[in-house]
Amino acid sequence: MSAIQFANVHKTYSNGKTVIEGLNLEIRDRSFTVLVGPSGCGKTTALRMIAGLEEVTEGTIQIGNTNVTKLDPGERDVAMVFQNYAIYPHMSVKGNIEFGLKNQGMPKASIIERLKKVIHLVGLAQYTNAKPSMLSGGQRQRIALARAISKEPGVFLMDEPLSNLDAKLRNQMRSELIQLHQTLQSTFVFVTHDQIEAMTMATDIVIFNEGKVMQVGTPKQVYNDPDNIFVATFIGDPGMNIVKLGTACQMGFRPQKAKFTMKEQFQGISVTGEIVTSETLGLECLNHVKTNLGNMIVKSEEELDFGQNVSVYVMEEDLYFFDMNDNRIREPHQIKQLSQTILLKEGVRVAREHPTAETAI
Ligand SMILES: Nc1ncnc2c1ncn2[C@@H]1O[C@H](COP(=O)(O)OP(=O)(O)O)[C@@H](O)[C@H]1O
Ligand SMILES: [Mg+2]
Repeated sequence: MSAIQFANVHKTYSNGKTVIEGLNLEIRDRSFTVLVGPSGCGKTTALRMIAGLEEVTEGTIQIGNTNVTKLDPGERDVAMVFQNYAIYPHMSVKGNIEFGLKNQGMPKASIIERLKKVIHLVGLAQYTNAKPSMLSGGQRQRIALARAISKEPGVFLMDEPLSNLDAKLRNQMRSELIQLHQTLQSTFVFVTHDQIEAMTMATDIVIFNEGKVMQVGTPKQVYNDPDNIFVATFIGDPGMNIVKLGTACQMGFRPQKAKFTMKEQFQGISVTGEIVTSETLGLECLNHVKTNLGNMIVKSEEELDFGQNVSVYVMEEDLYFFDMNDNRIREPHQIKQLSQTILLKEGVRVAREHPTAETAI
């Protein structure tokens, strides 16, 4: 049992800076939980508090059934992998992996057995006696992973371990980590600022901003059903378009859901605009469109020209509404009222007709 529980955790650094305020969070046993958020929001601080590398100012942290708040790192059944690998350059691959186990006083025969197992698991068997300097960044990160795995902890803590790798290797390591999680069946807590990394690897995502949890859910939940504008715009590539509808509310829709042509039986909004830029991604284009509601991005397969006049159509079911405090409006009759009254007033027409009726202003 290695669920992790933060109960009313506060962290104020010795310089008086409060980084985390009243954090309540449960990380499920055996989940692959990714803490994601912008730089400086407190992800590393939260992870280091789980590890026992950083003191908790107030509140408690529990791992399994144990209150670990005052325990030393070595007593917590956790292992941590850092962004900069933290491996010893003068030691061989083998030496680096064995080091922690020797320190724990593990019998030699057990060390040999563990070493053999993990070195195969991370694909470094042929480099057993090599020095880290002979290896690539990805291989060095695997040494750090092997060292963590060799401890057979209940909880793996990883702080942006893929950030120093190039894009291709990062992709490969992502899928290796997913497999590793399935093999080891332990709790993974992975920190990143990269929402794509979070979406692809997590079973559970925790979205952080300024030391506060903005939403917890599966990748699908936080993408399809964001609780607030922060999550809606942080998750997704690119994030959700948000336009202010006067002083009453804000409306959002995904760039993938906006179209330049109206489907038959269309029911939704349309707004006219002008193409500002069009970035080609290969198969698709990111079109930046200037409209009287503000700028928005439309992801489309067709490439449009600078200055071209367009109409943007979004189906009613693909619209999201938020209040002026950026929180999601979920009340069905409130949503209905908004799409019937405010949209019309603000120059966005709710189109309920066949495409022949051009309803945009
Ligand atoms: N030892 C420290 N003393 C004072 N402030 C710190 C210390 N470590 C981090 N901070 C501050 O705490 C905030 C959160 O940092 P951190 O947890 O590293 O964020 P993240 O990992 O999300 O980028 C930042 O503003 C950072 O400057
Ligand atoms: Mg960090």
